[in-house]
Amino acid sequence: MELVAFMLVFLLQTRKMQGSVTKSKFVKQGADVDLDVKKPVVFTPDRDLFFWRVNRSLDIFRSDKNQKRTKIYPNYHGRVVVLENFSLVLKNVQEPDAGLYTAVLSGAENKLAEYQLHIQAAVSPVKLEVVSLFADSDSCNLTVTCRTDQTHLNATFECRHANCTPDGGGLSNADWSLMAFVFNFSIVCQHSNQVSETQEAMAVRQVCQQHVPKEISIFTWTWIRISLVLGLALALIFALRRRERQATRKPEGCQVLESYNMGDITKDRVRPCTLKLRPAELPKMLEADPMQVTGQNNNPLLAL
Ligand SMILES: *[C@@H]1O[C@H](CO)[C@@H](O)[C@H](O)[C@H]1NC(C)=O
Ligand SMILES: *[C@@H]1O[C@H](CO)[C@@H](O)[C@H](O)[C@H]1NC(C)=O
Ligand SMILES: *[C@@H]1O[C@H](CO)[C@@H](O)[C@H](O)[C@H]1NC(C)=O
Ligand SMILES: *[C@@H]1O[C@H](CO)[C@@H](O)[C@H](O)[C@H]1NC(C)=O
Ligand SMILES: *[C@@H]1O[C@H](CO)[C@@H](O)[C@H](O)[C@H]1NC(C)=O
Repeated sequence: MELVAFMLVFLLQTRKMQGSVTKSKFVKQGADVDLDVKKPVVFTPDRDLFFWRVNRSLDIFRSDKNQKRTKIYPNYHGRVVVLENFSLVLKNVQEPDAGLYTAVLSGAENKLAEYQLHIQAAVSPVKLEVVSLFADSDSCNLTVTCRTDQTHLNATFECRHANCTPDGGGLSNADWSLMAFVFNFSIVCQHSNQVSETQEAMAVRQVCQQHVPKEISIFTWTWIRISLVLGLALALIFALRRRERQATRKPEGCQVLESYNMGDITKDRVRPCTLKLRPAELPKMLEADPMQVTGQNNNPLLAL
């Protein structure tokens, strides 16, 4: 909406400028500007002097038919060049050079050309920053900040497969405009005035798939670190426990399997031990649990 309003104002202004005799000219500070005389200068007896003036009063240049009275006024020595057809070139323009420049023939004030000169410095660079992002497999909602040295603008976009709505927004005044919009599947921040433009763009697909905003990334990194530490701690605990269990494990096949009654005696049935021990382990086992190993000899089943 703001963008549309801005465009309308801009169009109206442009039309107004074209309609009038006075032509608006915007010049970048430090550049040279050509002020074309527009019409051939034709001297007649009652229009015998030609002038370039600024602000309707200050003379810059004067000439006559035979160029006998031609002169560049002291303020403009070395700062202007006048072409053969009397067009004016103003060199290295600065802020105070802004004003109304008129080419006139003397006599019945015959105006040949008139320019309203505006001097603008080049705009500063603009930075595009993604400040929030919510993405799933087919949609991506993001807010960006477009920042210049003087101001900033937030714009939110809802994107589906790189097609985004709305069309951003804008801020503007007489000297600059700052806009956020989508162009060519990219989000663009543009800072411009009449004489210059800076912009930064990011491809929607790339932003939505790869870009991780700063706050999220700090948050994520914290979680990754905590998870790593927890994971390591758990792994260590498991390893220690396993070693402990291995050290106290009874040899397989020697557990009591069931109890059964035989008359009035309750007996345990035990699976015979068939230990496969490596020679080095044997003394340790015998020491640790001699009954288990010698159990084979006292097997109650054998006693039956
Ligand atoms: C005057 O000369 C300049 C440079 O040659 C040219 O660009 C301009 O169109 C001329 N203007 C007229 C009114 O002839
Ligand atoms: C013309 O007048 C404006 C103010 O109306 C002033 O800012 C500007 O400096 C003047 N230009 C020149 C060349 O004196
Ligand atoms: C983006 O916003 C739209 C409308 O507010 C919503 O339907 C959609 O689920 C959002 N997508 C994500 C990834 O948050
Ligand atoms: C832009 O968003 C930031 C937070 O991300 C907020 O601090 C700031 O006030 C917003 N600016 C405007 C102009 O809405
Ligand atoms: C659009 O973007 C693609 C790749 O980023 C680029 O090659 C192409 O020139 C761009 N088109 C326009 C009109 O800027």
